Amino acid sequence: MVDPMGLENLHIVDLPEPQAGPGEVVVAMKAASLNFRDLLAVKGGYGSMQKQEKLIPLSDGAGEVIAVGPGVSAWKAGDRVLGCFFPDWQAGPLRREAVGTDLGGGYDGVAVEKRVFRSDALVPLPDDLSFVEGAALPCAAATAWNAVIEKGGVGPGDRVLIQGTGGVSLFALQFAKMAGAEVFAISSSAEKLALMQAQGAQHLVNYKDEPEWGKAVMKLSRGRGMTHAIEIGGAETLKQTMRSMAPGGFIAMIGMVTGPKAEMNLPIIAMQEFKLEGATAGSRLSLQRLVDAMAANGVKPVIEDKRFGLDDLKAGLEYLARGEHVGKVCIDIG
Ligand SMILES: NC(=O)c1ccc[n+]([C@@H]2O[C@H](COP(=O)([O-])OP(=O)(O)OC[C@H]3O[C@@H](n4cnc5c(N)ncnc54)[C@H](OP(=O)(O)O)[C@@H]3O)[C@@H](O)[C@H]2O)c1
Repeated sequence: MVDPMGLENLHIVDLPEPQAGPGEVVVAMKAASLNFRDLLAVKGGYGSMQKQEKLIPLSDGAGEVIAVGPGVSAWKAGDRVLGCFFPDWQAGPLRREAVGTDLGGGYDGVAVEKRVFRSDALVPLPDDLSFVEGAALPCAAATAWNAVIEKGGVGPGDRVLIQGTGGVSLFALQFAKMAGAEVFAISSSAEKLALMQAQGAQHLVNYKDEPEWGKAVMKLSRGRGMTHAIEIGGAETLKQTMRSMAPGGFIAMIGMVTGPKAEMNLPIIAMQEFKLEGATAGSRLSLQRLVDAMAANGVKPVIEDKRFGLDDLKAGLEYLARGEHVGKVCIDIG
């Protein structure tokens, strides 16, 4: 029987020892983390946007530099680093050339023991973050940071809606709190909502018990509505999100865990002046800023207790797909 998740496409193979060419470094990978997108990539879900054959999966990894090529002055052996999600996006707004250059999608990813990186496709991993914690950042944290801080400009007095306890969501919660906002959280169980409360969420709604959760969130905000929403659900959540928004509210369109197509009430968007904007993992500079902010504020990623080895990648992806996790599902490599 064909596995609907496409996990039969995953194979463990031996690769030649990587060498650092000019401007490159070799990194011994120590840890990786899983993202919802990896499930899509494994079954070829990104179509022509992904490398067509022999793709090495996973975008998010951290490790230690073990060799530097000619002309590299930024790094030396022993440096602790994490890889950028988009190696071709250094700073500024998204450009066409960077689209499709994501690791574990357009380019080979980090599910390897050693990998060559361009020297400008890495950022330093601060001493107070472990390799696993660093590996949690390049996609989920960077996307949350881009949405909440860089694009959303969230600050004190803002009211931010966070959907669920997955990787992106918990980072978004942490960054919204770091920025001084009031957080409204929805999730599928009392246990998960308690975790969001422990991370600083002030208002909690169980979306399973309250299918009309948009109204409930609006009521909890005493009729003022959300200034920002981090949209993770997509098809089944966007309507409720719009119900929860303040006029002029900013909806960061990030995820589609309930499906990719939604019906939209266009007059509401026009009359309430909502801003609906896509958010991706952002540039290297943006990743650097988020790493600095986490270090300066002592913020640590929420890592799922259950961990996997690289040989167990299939089991890790199956675990992610079941949705029982909170925060980041991580892979130990070295
Ligand atoms: N735009 C980008 O560049 C970008 C970057 C990163 C991720 N993404 C997308 O963002 C989404 C989340 O990624 P992730 O890695 O954080 O996934 P994840 O760790 O698998 O988390 C998904 C979470 O969605 C929540 N959820 C499921 N159904 C929901 C519903 N009906 N209402 C509200 N929440 C619901 C669940 O939280 P509870 O169990 O707590 O309910 C679940 O933990 C995916 O669609 C991914 O493709 C996009």
